[in-house]
Amino acid sequence: AITNNEFTYDRVKNISDWILNRVDLRPKIAIVCGSGLGGLGERVQDARIFPYEEIPDFPRSTVVGHKGNLIVGKLNEIPVICMQGRFHSYEGYSNALCTLPMKVFKLMGVQTVLLTCAAGGLNQSFKVGDIMLIKDHVAPLLWTLQNPLIGHNDERFGPRFPACNNIYKKNLRDIFRSIAEEKQIELQEGNYAYLGGPNYETVTELKALIQMGGDAVGASTANEALVASYCGMNVLAIALITNKAVIEYDSQDFPCHEEVIQIANQKACVLQELVTELVKFLDF
Ligand code: 6GU
Repeated sequence: AITNNEFTYDRVKNISDWILNRVDLRPKIAIVCGSGLGGLGERVQDARIFPYEEIPDFPRSTVVGHKGNLIVGKLNEIPVICMQGRFHSYEGYSNALCTLPMKVFKLMGVQTVLLTCAAGGLNQSFKVGDIMLIKDHVAPLLWTLQNPLIGHNDERFGPRFPACNNIYKKNLRDIFRSIAEEKQIELQEGNYAYLGGPNYETVTELKALIQMGGDAVGASTANEALVASYCGMNVLAIALITNKAVIEYDSQDFPCHEEVIQIANQKACVLQELVTELVKFLDF
C-alpha cells in the first residue's frame, strides 16, 4: 500500500509546479466532479485540459463515468481548477493516493474545495435526484490503516493531529443554501457514510450505517474532505442521491452503476447551475 510517506512535500510541489508552469490563472477554488457530474468541466471557459496520464506522479481514472482530466480555466468568470473524474480506493489506490490532488491544490494556493459525488440515499425521506449538502461524515475505513494521514507528517501541509469536528464549513453551506433557495431548488442536508466499495452494501451494512448517523452512502468524498480540511482548506461537499439504498431483506430491487450514472446525468445540470453560481461567492 502507498502511504503518505511516498508523497513528500517536494514530490507534491513538483506536481503543483508542473501545473502552475503551464497556466496563467491562479485558481483559489478547486472543484471535484463525481460520477456523471463531469459536465461541469465542459462549462469551464478558456480551459487548459491536462489528461491525468500527462501529469507527473498522477494516478489514472479507471471508472466508467469518470473522464480523467484536470482542467484549469474560468467558471462564471472565476478562476477554477476542476477534476473531471476522481480516484477511489476500489480502483486499487490507497487513500493517500486518492487524496493526493488535495495536497496539490493546497500547494497551488487553492483555498476552497468543492466536492461533488453520487451517493445512495440511506435516509428514507430522501428521493432519487435529491441534492444533499454534506454536513459531516462517518468513515470507518479511515479509522484503520487506510487513513490517508498515516505516515510521516509534514507540517507544511497540516498538523499531525487535525481536529475533524468542523470539516464541512457552515458558512459555505449557508451560501449554497441561499443560492438554492433563490433558484427554488430543494436541498437536503445530512451525513455521508464512506465505504471503500466496489460492491454496494448488504442490507445489514446499510442498517448499520443508518445507525451510525449516515444519510447517504458512497465511496469517495470523505477521504478527500479529510485531507483538504487537514491542509487548512475550506470544504463544501454535495451529494447527488442517485438511488435509494435497499434496506429491505429479500427485495428484488438493487442498485446498479448504470442507474447511478443515468440519474447523475439527468440531474447534473441542476447541480452544475448551483455550482456555477456558487463560485462567484467563494472567490474572496
Ligand atoms: Cl447505494 N452505495 C455506495 N457505496 N455507493 C453508491 C451508492 C450506494 N449509490 C451511489 N453510489
